[in-house]
This record gives sequence, structure tokens and C-alpha cells, in this order.
Amino acid sequence: MAIAIGGTLTVPSKGHERLTPGVAVALTIRLQIIFCMNIVSLRPIDETNEEVCATLRVTEEQAGLIAPNAKSLEWAKTNPNCVPLAVYADDVMVGFVMYEPRGNGIFSIHRCMIDAKNQRQGFGRRAMELTIERIRQLGGITIYLSFRPENNAARRLYESLGFVKHEIEPDGEIVYRLGPVHDIAY
Ligand SMILES: CC(C)(COP(=O)(O)OP(=O)(O)OC[C@H]1O[C@@H](n2cnc3c(N)ncnc32)[C@H](O)[C@@H]1OP(=O)(O)O)[C@@H](O)C(=O)NCCC(=O)NCCS
Repeated sequence: MAIAIGGTLTVPSKGHERLTPGVAVALTIRLQIIFCMNIVSLRPIDETNEEVCATLRVTEEQAGLIAPNAKSLEWAKTNPNCVPLAVYADDVMVGFVMYEPRGNGIFSIHRCMIDAKNQRQGFGRRAMELTIERIRQLGGITIYLSFRPENNAARRLYESLGFVKHEIEPDGEIVYRLGPVHDIAY
């Protein structure tokens, strides 16, 4: 059954702040095993899985909303601060995320995509939760990301994770924030 837990365990706005991250992760994994759900994980991208990552595609309608993974991976190579990660459901790669530490506890999540055939199964939400959890473990305080105004799926997903509108860029891109305000160039 292809369901990832909508684990809100690491999202303070949902009122589970008394669970430590370690307990939350252990609980999530245990529930996934009990209910035979896919275990979603983030794994590094290297020469063994880079090609597969570049073949992942969003839907035709979504193509203008996010750069192709091959381009994002190229960008990551020229910007060593960027951390590209593959999203796996059990042992199948279903998506891609990329974040970047900006200093002073500020992080940007530059990419989050789930392959078209694996969307609407909870993988995007779980991938974001895991990314946020990683960032918190690295001392992240405020996370920024952005998306096109017509991207309602992204907007709904991010708002459900506690992100709030930060500002609108001159090109119309909407910037959301999780955490207190920090002044940075995104
Ligand atoms: C945004 C994206 C990552 C969501 O991935 P996903 O695995 O399909 O999402 P999930 O199944 O985890 O759904 C999580 C929430 O996202 C929202 N959502 C996802 N797809 C949606 C859609 N087609 N329409 C409206 N809301 C949607 C919903 O709020 C959903 O929660 P719900 O199921 O409780 O309603 C995916 O649609 C995608 O890859 N889009 C193209 C790339 C992109 O736009 N990335 C973000 C901007 S960079």
C-alpha cells in the first residue's frame, strides 16, 4: 500500500512539540512497519543513482513549475553548498529534494518534486517532513522556499506543514517561510 504517514510529528504548529525528534522518527518508522506502508527515506545522490534521478518527471502541466532534475543536479555541482537528495519509497526512487544552508540557521529548500506516477500518495509530504527534520538537526531555525503563484499543490502542501507567506518576488514567485523572519537573499 503506497501511503506515507502524514507524520506531523516534527511540525511544531501541529502541537507535537513534546516528542523529541528521535522519538518521533522511531514512532513513525514503527507505524509504517505495522501498517505495511512504504518507508520513505532521503538518500544522497551519487554516481549509482544520479541517472535515475535525472529521469524522474513531473506531469506535463507541472513542467513549467520546476527545473528538470538534470539541471538541478548540474547546478548542485557548481554550488557545493547545495545538498541534493533522492526520495525513496522503500527502495524505489520517487522524487528529489534539494536544500542549501545559508548561514545563521537559515536554510533554503530549492527543490521538491515527486515523479508524476508516484504523486498523491503522501510521498511529497513525507519528503518535506524529512527534509525539515534534517535541517532542524543541522541547527536550522528559518527555512525559505518559493513557488509559482499557480502552483496550488505546492502552496497547500507547504501551508499544511506550517509555512507562511513571506513575500512576493518581482517576477511573481511566492516566497514562504517556516520560522522567524531573517533578512537574506534567497
Ligand atoms: C508538490 C508535490 C511535490 C506534491 O507531492 P505529492 O507526493 O503528490 O504530495 P502528497 O501526496 O504528499 O500530498 C501532500 C499535500 O499536497 C497537496 N497536493 C498535492 N498534490 C495536489 C494537487 N494535485 N492539487 C492540490 N493539492 C495537492 C495537498 O494538500 C496534499 O495533502 P492532502 O492529500 O491531505 O490533500 C508534487 O505535486 C510535485 O512534484 N509537483 C511538481 C513540482 C513542484 O511543483 N514542486 C514544488 C515547487 S518547487
